[in-house]
Amino acid sequence: MSTLVIGGAGYIGAHVVRLLLERGEDVVVVDDLSTGAADRVGRATLAELDVAGPGAQESLEKLMAERGVTAVVHFAAKKQVGESVARPAWYYQQNVGGLANVLAAMENADVKHMIFSSSAATYGMPDVALVTEDTDCRPINPYGETKLIGEWMLADCERAWGLRWSALRYFNVAGAGWPELGDPAALNLVPMVLDRLARGERPKIFGDDYPTPDGTCIRDYIHVLDLAHAHLAAMDYLEGDAPIAHHVFNVGTGEGASVRQVVDTLGEVSGLDTTADVEPRRPGDPPQLIASPDRIGKVLGWKAEHRLEDIVRSAWEAWQAGPRRIG
Ligand SMILES: NC(=O)c1ccc[n+]([C@@H]2O[C@H](COP(=O)([O-])OP(=O)(O)OC[C@H]3O[C@@H](n4cnc5c(N)ncnc54)[C@H](O)[C@@H]3O)[C@@H](O)[C@H]2O)c1
Repeated sequence: MSTLVIGGAGYIGAHVVRLLLERGEDVVVVDDLSTGAADRVGRATLAELDVAGPGAQESLEKLMAERGVTAVVHFAAKKQVGESVARPAWYYQQNVGGLANVLAAMENADVKHMIFSSSAATYGMPDVALVTEDTDCRPINPYGETKLIGEWMLADCERAWGLRWSALRYFNVAGAGWPELGDPAALNLVPMVLDRLARGERPKIFGDDYPTPDGTCIRDYIHVLDLAHAHLAAMDYLEGDAPIAHHVFNVGTGEGASVRQVVDTLGEVSGLDTTADVEPRRPGDPPQLIASPDRIGKVLGWKAEHRLEDIVRSAWEAWQAGPRRIG
């Protein structure tokens, strides 16, 4: 029996792979290494495969049968909002097409459990203090749309052939559970700031005139290790054949931190000058996005253990352990 982690060579997936290996599971990783790296999967078996490419469904089916796969954790996706606006069809091919291939393979290989990486991007710009899973989903870009469609596909497969599934809507993921597993992409706030500092440039803040206490956007930052544990809790919840009360879970802390707080915290933990340049607002950035973590707490018994300073410190330590060490 084994767990198939698709996209397990990436930032978040590699954390889940490591936790699964630590608890003694047999883990197979499928990844096309488009943004992932082979050295992140440890002693898990790695099969290099583009799940959105030709013949993917058949290859996945064969792998599932050969390795006795009983559960799939599906991370593989493209995740850049701006790119999704510029290349929508490709995002649908990758994120929706890739998931369709995985689900068709699961159906044929009789694999019944799936944990899916969804996103707070499914909500769009909700005008509420705390976002619950019942808040309306109105994604404002193709990336968020592909995630919401992914959830619908899982619900359809449940109705058709009994798939047992959870979709985790991640809020702002940051930090590192191990120094060698830091976020390699400069797409989210903390690595973006580190990237600029490494170039000898000042961090940028996009907009300081939002209706928030310090004028900068507020987000719910979740430590990647806490997030990885949420996947294990969701996998355990699907075990057995008890009816599934809830499929969709926010993964966040319920607490917000402003962009300026994050940048200042990075200055404190690193000892660097993180004085930022303020740029105009970016379109599509809601002033505040904070998860209600009530449902995941009640149903999965999960709660975040780490707060902002741990998150930022672990990201800093991971950065300093990598090739672009500062100072
Ligand atoms: N990082 C975040 O802040 C965040 C927030 C919300 C949701 N998510 C979602 O979480 C998942 C993982 O994100 P991440 O930050 O670890 O990103 P990542 O880019 O580090 O990981 C994605 C992994 O999937 C692989 N992959 C991509 N397309 C593939 C394909 N067609 N076939 C096979 N492998 C493929 C990549 O090589 C990479 O290893 C994604 O689905 C993303 O949309 C991430």
